[in-house]
Amino acid sequence: MTDIPQGERRVLLIVGGGVAAYKALELTRLLRKAGVAVRPILTRAGAQFVTPLSLSALAEDKVYQELFSLTDEHEMGHIELSRQADLIVVAPATADLMAKAANGHADDLASTTLLATDKPVLMAPAMNVRMWTHPATQRNLKTLQADGVAFVGPDEGAMACGEFGPGRMAEPAAIFAAIQAALAPAARPLAGRHVLLTAGPTAEPLDPVRVLTNRSSGKQGFAIAGALARLGARVTLVAGPVAVDTPPGVTRVNVETAVEMLNACQAALPADAAVCVAAVADWRPDEAFGVKLKKGHDGPPTLRLVENPDILATLSRPGPDRPRLVVGFAAETNDLEANARSKLGKKGCDWVVGNDVSQDGIMGGDDNEVLLVSAGAVEHWPKASKAEVARRLADRIAEHLR
Ligand code: CTP
Repeated sequence: MTDIPQGERRVLLIVGGGVAAYKALELTRLLRKAGVAVRPILTRAGAQFVTPLSLSALAEDKVYQELFSLTDEHEMGHIELSRQADLIVVAPATADLMAKAANGHADDLASTTLLATDKPVLMAPAMNVRMWTHPATQRNLKTLQADGVAFVGPDEGAMACGEFGPGRMAEPAAIFAAIQAALAPAARPLAGRHVLLTAGPTAEPLDPVRVLTNRSSGKQGFAIAGALARLGARVTLVAGPVAVDTPPGVTRVNVETAVEMLNACQAALPADAAVCVAAVADWRPDEAFGVKLKKGHDGPPTLRLVENPDILATLSRPGPDRPRLVVGFAAETNDLEANARSKLGKKGCDWVVGNDVSQDGIMGGDDNEVLLVSAGAVEHWPKASKAEVARRLADRIAEHLR
């Protein structure tokens, strides 16, 4: 077994309540042997299976158990606990812990820490086969994966409950290897890089209650922001009005209009890469009325529109502040490749990700099917979840900036 590189790598190990908890002791031993600091959190159910004393002895650290412990919070609050870790590992990740994390519960120290963290999380599920295959657990698994949580296992085999199937926690050596991969510098190839993103629609006011806007959900842009942050990038996400949660580790700047979006982008420069996913309104009303427009006897008002600044083209303009890589999106209903290619030239960016929004369920949905067009090549990516498309694009950006 190869060693995890030294240099103060710190794992916060959450031990949930399951028969497999005993394997967390062996995992702790392997990590310590490799020079990784282990700070354990033991849930109330976990303490039914392993004692705080054995965990503490192997971790060579104090075991944290209670959310409202005066002494623990005084020594190290739950926010600080996660802040001081490079990686959070949940082993065993019970069905209950997965459900809590997927739904944002915070009613004990483990779930509160998982909700409060912006660090990468690795879960090693362990549960009865029926609990694992239950649609609720599978739904939670999907949600957690979309949130960027990594998984190791579960394995298939005979279980303590006498049944057979998937649900056994991965062996300590396999969890150790997954931790090793997550802690390796290669897992954070964008560390030290700044990536600027735009996402969501813009809303252009007509009067205090009416806006011109579009149907962009922001989902794809937010997923890309999260994927980039997980690769270690510092991410500034300039977002139009959308109801999507900010991914962990992402700095979000909320804007309404295209002009505000451009200003926020320019204020966030310099950046190593810029990814413009926002569906920016091409036009805005020439004048926004200060009071609500009323129906009158002169019939409906005539709207005069003026063109909005093109954020992607502005960021792509050659100059000292131009990010090394500028990526645009092309939402098209026809002639996807030709339109994406023409946008590449028109905007002056390096890559265009084309997506066919005429397909049912793309706009606002959870899946996407895209083309990646650059000066010399075009790649068709198969239909995948927006989270998967985001991961793939983030990997490509990391490769390019390496
Ligand atoms: N974009 C931008 N600022 C604008 C308009 C578009 O930054 N004012 C960016 C989008 O974020 C996207 C790309 O430009 O990355 C293409 O957007 P799209 O709406 O598809 O293109 P348009 O510029 O509106 O071109 P067309 O009207 O030909 O579709």
